[in-house]
Amino acid sequence: MADFDLIVIGSGPGGYVAAIRAAQLGLKTACVEGRDTLGGTCLNIGCIPSKALLNATHNLHEAHMNFEKMGITGAPALKVDWERMLRYKEDVVATNTRGVEFLFKKNKVTRLQGWASIPAPGQVKVGEEIHTANNILIATGSEATVLPGITVDEEVVITSTGALSLGQIPKSMVVIGAGVIGLEMGSVYARLGTEVTVVEYLDAITPGLDAEIARSFQKILIKQGMKFVLGAAVQSVERTKTGARVSWTQRSDDAPGEVEVEVEVEADVVLVATGRKPYTEGLGLEALGVEMLPRGQIKVDAKMQTNVPGIYAIGDAVPGPMLAHKASEEGIAAVETMAGQYGHMNYDVIPGVIYTSPEVASVGKTEEQLKAEGRAYKVGKFSLMGNARAKAVFQGDGMVKMIVDKKTDRILGCHIIGPAAGELIHEICVAMEFGAAAQDVAMTCHAHPTFSEAVREAALACGSGAIHA
Ligand code: NAI
Repeated sequence: MADFDLIVIGSGPGGYVAAIRAAQLGLKTACVEGRDTLGGTCLNIGCIPSKALLNATHNLHEAHMNFEKMGITGAPALKVDWERMLRYKEDVVATNTRGVEFLFKKNKVTRLQGWASIPAPGQVKVGEEIHTANNILIATGSEATVLPGITVDEEVVITSTGALSLGQIPKSMVVIGAGVIGLEMGSVYARLGTEVTVVEYLDAITPGLDAEIARSFQKILIKQGMKFVLGAAVQSVERTKTGARVSWTQRSDDAPGEVEVEVEVEADVVLVATGRKPYTEGLGLEALGVEMLPRGQIKVDAKMQTNVPGIYAIGDAVPGPMLAHKASEEGIAAVETMAGQYGHMNYDVIPGVIYTSPEVASVGKTEEQLKAEGRAYKVGKFSLMGNARAKAVFQGDGMVKMIVDKKTDRILGCHIIGPAAGELIHEICVAMEFGAAAQDVAMTCHAHPTFSEAVREAALACGSGAIHA
């Protein structure tokens, strides 16, 4: 008999959630983690610590921008104690990683500490010890991709990991890549007073986001003091005495596609945020004959099974958006399959949130995707200028954009910029899971005054019209 029904490799939001669910379903489960603490990238050096810094700096920004307007004076005297802010971030991380430890104990998930490899199907080696299992679930996540020729030292040339623990607040920062990491961490430092310049290869920020929303988002970030250089391909980053020199080739607006100029800029710190790649090193997948995809991802079927029986994979290590909650959902689906249940993933309804202020949230199709598919659609938009609650908190800059099927009114996608967008989006996720039409949302009574009224107004705008537009 095997030692375990399931061994999960990796304790990020994919792995730890899968392990807990498996134990709840009656599987004798172990989870292997190489780090000292549980929770993976998300809890230790990703989502959670960045949210702590985003929260702290959001409050600082509020104090500077809006306190006086509300009659609260003295705010300009506020100072940032960076060390203490980092300690607050560490405390948030510790509370969350200890929370996972507690949940493992509560659910009787065995924790195996060390870096795992799979010497043969049904076997997981941790240190010198080999543990046997009926099933193995790979949830090893991803690591930052660094442009060729660039050396990351996590002090001056940093990835998101270094950005969470800089020794001091830099005066200037170049962010390479206007994706989620670049904009979230760029926002943190811009609010702390750093001069932030984001250099992006494409002609728009946030690739994959609805283009109209991306443009509005960029305008808001510019108002907040961030600078953008678009259509620029970074070529090199070199350390200097005081920081680093970044050089890029800039496409010209007059002659699109043609490289016109080479630009060099010096900054105290350079954040490389050009994407992430699956992390599967050291597992021994090649020797096992696990089929891989060209971009380094593990190939899996709809049940998250690899081509090797008994080996499953989820999360950033497999195709799809690199999001913590997508990994968790896949983990649950995989272990439910193992337990003889009907594991299910709906990739059409996976929300994405950018935790800047305001937040940006989206689910489902963008206008660009629907155009490419040739599908007839209608758009209902509502500006937060018409939302009483948003105006009361100085956040009327955003909007809700709902996209529905032209004939059936069924919701195909929704994109929101605004306060609590990351919470509001879930109303639409539930609606989409139920196959709802915009009219269903429009006919639902929403409390007044709330931000979520804006969602209803966008739904109304898909039909006979919004009230406050
Ligand atoms: P990303 O893929 O979102 O964006 C990278 C950007 O870098 C792209 O816009 C790309 O065009 C640009 N780029 C690439 N090479 C370049 C060059 N040579 N010069 C200039 N620009 C260049 O990657 P990011 O932001 O590093 O995030 C990695 C992953 O982590 C993403 O999949 C993201 O979804 C996930 N993540 C999600 C978060 C969230 O959901 N809130 C938070 C943080 C990360």
